[in-house]
Amino acid sequence: MKDIQELKDLNAKQIWHPMGHPGDLQANAPTIIDRAEGVRITDIDGHETIDAVGGLWCANLGYSNDVVKQAISDQLSKLPYYSAFAGTSNAPAIEAAEAVVNFFKPDGMARAFFTSGGSDSVETALRLSRQYHRLRGQPQRIKFLSLKKGYHGTHFGGASVNGNARFRTAYEPLLPGCYHLPSPYSYRNPFNESDPAKLAQLVAQTMEDEILFQDPSTIAAFILEPIQGAGGVIVYHESFMKLARDICDKYGILMISDEVITGFGRTGDWSGARHWGVQPDMMTTAKGITSAYFPVGATLLNAKVAETFESDQSGEGGIFHGYTYSAHPVGMAAVNACLSETLRLDLKSNAAARGTQLYNGLKTLQVEFDVIGDVRGGHGLMAAIELVSDRGTKTPMDMPSLKRAHKACYQSGTMVRMGGNNLLMSPPLTLTEADVSKILDDLRVGLKAI
Ligand SMILES: Cc1ncc(COP(=O)(O)O)c(C=O)c1O
Repeated sequence: MKDIQELKDLNAKQIWHPMGHPGDLQANAPTIIDRAEGVRITDIDGHETIDAVGGLWCANLGYSNDVVKQAISDQLSKLPYYSAFAGTSNAPAIEAAEAVVNFFKPDGMARAFFTSGGSDSVETALRLSRQYHRLRGQPQRIKFLSLKKGYHGTHFGGASVNGNARFRTAYEPLLPGCYHLPSPYSYRNPFNESDPAKLAQLVAQTMEDEILFQDPSTIAAFILEPIQGAGGVIVYHESFMKLARDICDKYGILMISDEVITGFGRTGDWSGARHWGVQPDMMTTAKGITSAYFPVGATLLNAKVAETFESDQSGEGGIFHGYTYSAHPVGMAAVNACLSETLRLDLKSNAAARGTQLYNGLKTLQVEFDVIGDVRGGHGLMAAIELVSDRGTKTPMDMPSLKRAHKACYQSGTMVRMGGNNLLMSPPLTLTEADVSKILDDLRVGLKAI
């Protein structure tokens, strides 16, 4: 291992980082994270902070879960890899499928298809939804609907349904046949409507209008996050997902609930769809499925979708899609251990309690600091503060000020994440009451630095 100075000298020189400008990163090298324990991370200079980002909305169990570590290590010794392409399987994969399907049974899920992460899970859901309609004699159902501000990963399919220009423009042309609806984002929306319930109705009406304009018989699926994460923790009114479900049912459109962040307890319920009382047709998951101890994702399908494929006699139901690391035995061992730990520790209940504490604390900070234009969260451990230079005009805060706040907060002892003009928080779900207080204290230091 190179010494500290060598690592610093080489930092960002040969590695290109996701979601960053390679030139900028060479000039302003990223923080090198060296180790982690519990909910805390330590950088290469020995500076320890609370990880209020949870890795990347994913380290739900925190960093010191020995059960998961041991399961991974045992599986590495026994069978470090074998393919799960048709013809071979492995015991941890069979058990993981049962565990994941049982986990999401109350959401109506019946089958699991394993992937290597969230983007793969989204790609899988989009592809299988087209194939589902073909199998049902409707091959013309190829279009996808999604929400602006949504984030669905970076494969061409996911980027095409993504609702933020930042992830799209440089990579156009994207998939044809993808249409975007306004986000039910009550702080900023084209309807100028700040009442979340009324806004939910307006977006639902727009959805129906767009479906009729496109011709319902051409639309395969509507994909949405139950709470928009990377787009800025946008929490819709509780009625919205139900309204969208009804519209999907009316027009034979599949609903894909993208639970890559919201699955496994982050919202205070075991899934985001359950949080809003909705059963989707498919769910896409990753992150919390292994708490990031191993890269795994899963696409889940309900009985209606599964039956269509499984009863096919034509041969068209074959799934010619998948990944070398689908159902990777080590990943599957991580899933099994992670899900049993997630349930044993009842992470969702802690997420709900600590999420409310964090949200209330952020609301208090908003009284103190005019730069906080909007506070979002209150549904589990995902929260955001949207920073503005003028509350009246809602002018987004400039980047240098945001960076100052971020840096001061980090130096004071908490890592948060910048996303647009938001500071985002998605800490491990094992967080304590004292940890939340510390995050709020450090945010105060950060906001003073603007
Ligand atoms: C809702 C959602 N979908 C998909 C993805 C993509 O997941 P990955 O980065 O594992 O490919 C993410 C990542 O944050 C996400 O938040």
